[in-house]
Amino acid sequence: MTTRWGILGCARIALGHVVPAMAAVDGAVPAAIAGRDPERTARAADRLGIPRHHTSYADLLDDPGIDAVYLPLPPHLHHRWALRALRSGKSVLVEKPAVGTAAEADELVAEARRRDLLLVEATMYRFREQWASLRAWRDQHAPPGTPALLRAHIGYTLDAPADDHRRSRSSGGGALRDLGTYAVNAASALFGAAERGWLAQVRDGRAGTDADIDLVSAGGLVFPDGRVLAFDCDFRHAWVDTPLELRTPGGTAVLDHAFNPGTHPTELRVLRQGAPPETRPFAGADAYAAMVAEFGRWRGKGASSDFAAAEAHLLTTTARNTELLTSFESRGASGPA
Ligand SMILES: NC(=O)c1ccc[n+]([C@@H]2O[C@H](COP(=O)([O-])OP(=O)(O)OC[C@H]3O[C@@H](n4cnc5c(N)ncnc54)[C@H](OP(=O)(O)O)[C@@H]3O)[C@@H](O)[C@H]2O)c1
Repeated sequence: MTTRWGILGCARIALGHVVPAMAAVDGAVPAAIAGRDPERTARAADRLGIPRHHTSYADLLDDPGIDAVYLPLPPHLHHRWALRALRSGKSVLVEKPAVGTAAEADELVAEARRRDLLLVEATMYRFREQWASLRAWRDQHAPPGTPALLRAHIGYTLDAPADDHRRSRSSGGGALRDLGTYAVNAASALFGAAERGWLAQVRDGRAGTDADIDLVSAGGLVFPDGRVLAFDCDFRHAWVDTPLELRTPGGTAVLDHAFNPGTHPTELRVLRQGAPPETRPFAGADAYAAMVAEFGRWRGKGASSDFAAAEAHLLTTTARNTELLTSFESRGASGPA
């Protein structure tokens, strides 16, 4: 079944990665794009071979030639436009972080179920084979009842302009929401709902202003059975290659390039005390294309497939676990939950 995509906004991630991935995937067609600036939108459509462009997001949602909407707006606009897209009868692929609160996640999931539509958060790293391999390691070495520790780092020096959404609290910016969300998403997928959390932050310092984002966040979540996420993320230091370690009583699995694998070959390294490291190689693949292909495989089954149910569960669990962390921000960002 073909999925005719509508793209809401000429975002860098859309033009640079996701639309080219759509064009490369069998059964995916970038059919229309909407943007606020008519000339820029027309240019983007022309360059990417998208046949129709709209100058209002609402017009794109009314376009009968669209089956699904890809939503790469700044984070504070995700919930509003995802809800409108679902209410227009379109399945939705919404960029990370999909929502700002758990209540927003619940509302989107309920709407998708009511209308039998597919709703997926675009955490693309999960759609490469290396991630399936880490899940298999979890199933084998950390089944329910077993302790495990997930360690994640993700960061780079933010050099975006002053009006970039990453630099604005009200737009959903800051390192925790932009980058830490990957670690929380991975832990939510591997361990489920957390019971407690902790968070420490270095903030921009312009207290009380919209620019007072977190530049560094370090924190963690505690899950049932003594499972733990420990992560740090930052906009301040040199780029780090997003390593992810899953430590279990049976050994440690290490994924390099975990959250931003690009299209390069990758590997899972298994470390066991007293044994040489084992490596499991994975061929290069485009995570964005894998995500678009998987979305297309399941879209026709609406909200009732196992895939749709797992995606809805992950979206709401990630939102709840994120709230455990962000609740510290209003309390000075440290101390037990
Ligand atoms: N999965 C990934 O690998 C990945 C990577 C990067 C970013 N992301 C996520 O993708 C989303 C977009 O990030 P980006 O850096 O690509 O964004 P961006 O380049 O800043 O683009 C955002 C787009 O949203 C539209 N927009 C509507 N209202 C806006 C407003 N008030 N302020 C600014 N833009 C507005 C604009 O499109 P028009 O003017 O054309 O309407 C703009 O081009 C974010 O949620 C981000 O976290 C994901």
